[in-house]
Amino acid sequence: RPFRIAVLPGDGIGTEVMPEGLRVLKLAAARHGLPLELQAFDWACADHWLRHGRMLPEDWFETLRGFDAIYFGAVGWPAVVPDHVSLWGSLLKFRRDFDQYANLRPVRLLPGVRGPLAGKQPGDIDFLVVRENTEGEYSSVGGRMFEGSERELVLQEAVFTRHGVDRILRHAFRLAQQRPRKRLTAATKSNGIAISMPYWDERVEAIAAEFPDVQWDRQHVDILAARFVLQPERFDVVVASNLFGDILSDLGPACTGTLGMAPSANLNPDRRYPSLFEPVHGSAPDIAGQGIANPIAQIWSAALMLDFLGQAPGADAAAGRAAHDAIVAAIEQVLRTGPRTRDLGGHASTREVGEAIAAALGG
Ligand code: NAI
Ligand code: MG
Repeated sequence: RPFRIAVLPGDGIGTEVMPEGLRVLKLAAARHGLPLELQAFDWACADHWLRHGRMLPEDWFETLRGFDAIYFGAVGWPAVVPDHVSLWGSLLKFRRDFDQYANLRPVRLLPGVRGPLAGKQPGDIDFLVVRENTEGEYSSVGGRMFEGSERELVLQEAVFTRHGVDRILRHAFRLAQQRPRKRLTAATKSNGIAISMPYWDERVEAIAAEFPDVQWDRQHVDILAARFVLQPERFDVVVASNLFGDILSDLGPACTGTLGMAPSANLNPDRRYPSLFEPVHGSAPDIAGQGIANPIAQIWSAALMLDFLGQAPGADAAAGRAAHDAIVAAIEQVLRTGPRTRDLGGHASTREVGEAIAAALGG
């Protein structure tokens, strides 16, 4: 059966980079024998909010839950709808209600991109940040007391469950196992956060025992962040709690100069619900409507999607991986030769870059 993909372009440049993402997605899927069934929806955008006073229709959950994946652009149009409304009313609902507990961000130094770190060559930096996406520090347990007085007290608890910690760790160890170097680093801060982080460390040790072929270590997140900058070569898979992972997953791509080209996967690895694939960047109202946005993050996100879909039970994991690798190679080729969008110092349009990547794929 074909993989069912819900397409949600969103707002601003989301609607401009999505066609290029779809162009490359369809081509790569066809070449590698991965049948897709795409269905586009016109919600999760400011226009829907204007017309209906909400970001999503009431039955969004039932409508989307049967899909294998959601291919997402970017949401947000602050002139029309406040950002906390657009994000909490759509994207963050998907992540939470579809239990997308693993957030993946690949970090690669790409050819032709001037990274901020001196002396690094493509190949030197190639790691994966795995962020826990559902619990940890981002809980709504807490409150305020004595507001406005000198006794004012504000409390917000971090929540770590055995279920939540073990599943993200297992997912990260499994990913490490599939990579050539088979290494994993767990972010901790057990010297300062003396209850939850020692627990996290304990679980890392317990889960590590299930993966004897993975070499692992743990590092306090402060020095770990410093090493992203000083010694990025040493990392392969980095797993972290929600807050630490949030920070590390922006720092990582920043270290390669590709924050604006960074892709991400929000996975429900159990495949009970759809997983979501999206660029890290937002809807960029400042450049929207000009056709100059860089489509690479959207296209790279399609590569992550095909890789994940290929690993479904009964699907063709080798084909998914090959499609992923072919897309990344095509992106690298176009970064070497051009054309480039303005953010990379070129003059090309969104569409020209999408077409060049498709051509590099052999389209
Ligand atoms: P942004 O990522 O949209 O833009 C930040 C800067 O990067 C802007 O100068 C923009 O022009 C540039 N930029 C971003 N993507 C680019 C691309 N593909 N090519 C070339 N330049 C690019 O972040 P910002 O400005 O903080 O947020 C704008 C809107 O996007 C807000 O409504 C925000 O809530 C929303 N947003 C949505 C996200 C999502 O859907 N996942 C993530 C981040 C922001
Ligand atoms: Mg972030």
